[in-house]
Amino acid sequence: MQLRTTAFAKGGEAIARESTGRVVFIAGALPDETVEVELTEERKEFARARVLEVIEASPDRIAPPCPHVAEGCGGCDLQHATPEAQLRLKQGIVLDVLRKIGRFADEDLPEIDVVPLAATGYRTTVRGLVLNERFAFQRRGSNDPIGVESCLVLHPLLDELVREGRFGNAHAVTLRCGARSGERLAFFEPRVPRRRQLPDDVVTAGSAELRADRKGQMPSYREVVAGHTFRISATSFFQVRAGGADALVDTVRSMAGPIDQSTRFVDLYGGVGLFAATVGAAAGLLTLVEQSAAAVRDARINLGGRDARIISGAVEAWTPERADVVVADPARSGLGKLGVAKIAGTRASRVVLVSCDPAAFARDAQLLKAKKYRLERCTIVDLFPQTSHVEVVSSFVPDAPDD
Ligand SMILES: C[S@@+](CC[C@H](N)C(=O)[O-])C[C@H]1O[C@@H](n2cnc3c(N)ncnc32)[C@H](O)[C@@H]1O
Repeated sequence: MQLRTTAFAKGGEAIARESTGRVVFIAGALPDETVEVELTEERKEFARARVLEVIEASPDRIAPPCPHVAEGCGGCDLQHATPEAQLRLKQGIVLDVLRKIGRFADEDLPEIDVVPLAATGYRTTVRGLVLNERFAFQRRGSNDPIGVESCLVLHPLLDELVREGRFGNAHAVTLRCGARSGERLAFFEPRVPRRRQLPDDVVTAGSAELRADRKGQMPSYREVVAGHTFRISATSFFQVRAGGADALVDTVRSMAGPIDQSTRFVDLYGGVGLFAATVGAAAGLLTLVEQSAAAVRDARINLGGRDARIISGAVEAWTPERADVVVADPARSGLGKLGVAKIAGTRASRVVLVSCDPAAFARDAQLLKAKKYRLERCTIVDLFPQTSHVEVVSSFVPDAPDD
């Protein structure tokens, strides 16, 4: 069927309506296009479709620069839009979720600033499947593997492993590197295969081996961000690009405001200590809360020279302490009611939220609003060009400052 698209949704699909009024989310389409589509999923209230042919193209459309997109690779879902259009679409997504999910009135919407980043050769962490011993991504819209010769968005240190590495009979592998340390790590699922081909410098780890030897030394690599060297264990979270982590640190720093010896700084969902070791470095009191035991061990090393309270456990179980600045960088599900209640319990005069899912961001912004925190600034740090992933940094201040 032919459809005319009118808008863009947070999942990276264009939106159209059938003659019946039913909404159709179309993968591979952009707003203001006429496309011939095939339905891939049908529900009563909506359907999903994929583009068979673009009849009338948006001026924002380009040929995807990577040949694997045409072959069905599901790694990048926005290569068919110009880099400028990708940023505009992401700004539109953030405004849309704030209106629809966050229920913000137009007059309460902030400017959505954007920090653009290089669109190729950037990723320093990637998880793939193994197909015939080679690295593979997931095929678009399925769990099936699709082999790739090379990857446009991977850092050259990892692209070399994709091109030349052999990963034996593993099911999946996560490749990680420090762009500035040059160190590389391959994390296999379920275990490190005996038959593998990787350069000698690549440190290996396997999920089954790590489970069996919980007390053993976990393999790690190092990355340098904002002049600080971080140890990152095989299973610890770290941002997907070094320059992107610099940009996040800069953005969080500018939203957090001045920090000195009188500042009580709390880093929730603190990981290996990225924000605590940089933005919070000058604070008089520093607390980090993190539930991954491996990340907590890393944070202890990364904040080694500091007198910091590092709390190993879930934010939901933490007893909030009085703070001036709270930085919170939760997983995709966001803060939720409990996380927001903990932040409100600190009575912080400044809250900086780092969100990797726009819908969760809008829900959290609404929950913070209900706790009398006003959304002040909002910046997209474009960590994931060529894809529809949106990373939002936002700041909140109390409606009536409480001192
Ligand atoms: C998006 S990462 C951010 C980490 C760190 N801020 C950084 O930028 O590197 C989210 C972190 O929250 C941790 N985490 C997830 N759920 C949590 C929870 N309920 N309580 C505490 N930490 C949690 C994860 O282990 C992960 O390290």
